Amino acid sequence: MSTARPGTERPREPNLVLIGFMATGKSTIGRLCARALGFRFRDSDTLIQRRAGRLIPEIFAEEGEAAFRTREAEALQDLARGHHLVIATGGGAVMNAVNVARLRRTGVVILLRAAPEEILMRVGNRQSRPLLADAPDPLARIETLLLQREPYYHAAAHAVVETTGLSREEAAERVLEAYHAEAERWRWTGGASRKEKEDGETA
Ligand code: S3P
Repeated sequence: MSTARPGTERPREPNLVLIGFMATGKSTIGRLCARALGFRFRDSDTLIQRRAGRLIPEIFAEEGEAAFRTREAEALQDLARGHHLVIATGGGAVMNAVNVARLRRTGVVILLRAAPEEILMRVGNRQSRPLLADAPDPLARIETLLLQREPYYHAAAHAVVETTGLSREEAAERVLEAYHAEAERWRWTGGASRKEKEDGETA
């Protein structure tokens, strides 16, 4: 039960969750947004690495992708329990429906998009991204993965921000606008889509 006097409770502020492909700026833009909102910034890949005591390419190489995905789901579950957070997720997190449901419940989920050529340019050292490291044609690999993942990204997102050609500050500004626009709706639905909410109410 709330201990605040009646009428003085603040509406709960949703977390801000950033999803999207590798190198779309989730961490950089997330940090800027966290500062602007007065939230803490959390990155699921960083948490996974800290808990595992090794880097993501090492986890992929030594344990395999499936074990990485299990670690990722655990990290996201824990992060989703927090409040006043900006959460940056790994590019494959939304391929798991359980992750998506948790992320949508914890806050406003915003998809960052970027053109494949811009992603390739921003990736830099491919060795830190196991899914791109061994690709003979990295641009083709990015395009293929994007094609597979775009429907999942869109289904998971409350809002979409296109970052191609924007500075990180401009992109953060757009994300904050989208967050504020969606936050009100999120409070009414608890993050569920209208369909999910209707299903829940009639269940
Ligand atoms: C992955 C993206 C990476 C990291 C892992 C898998 C993916 O995170 O989680 O290498 O499946 O797209 P970033 O999106 O932060 O690069």
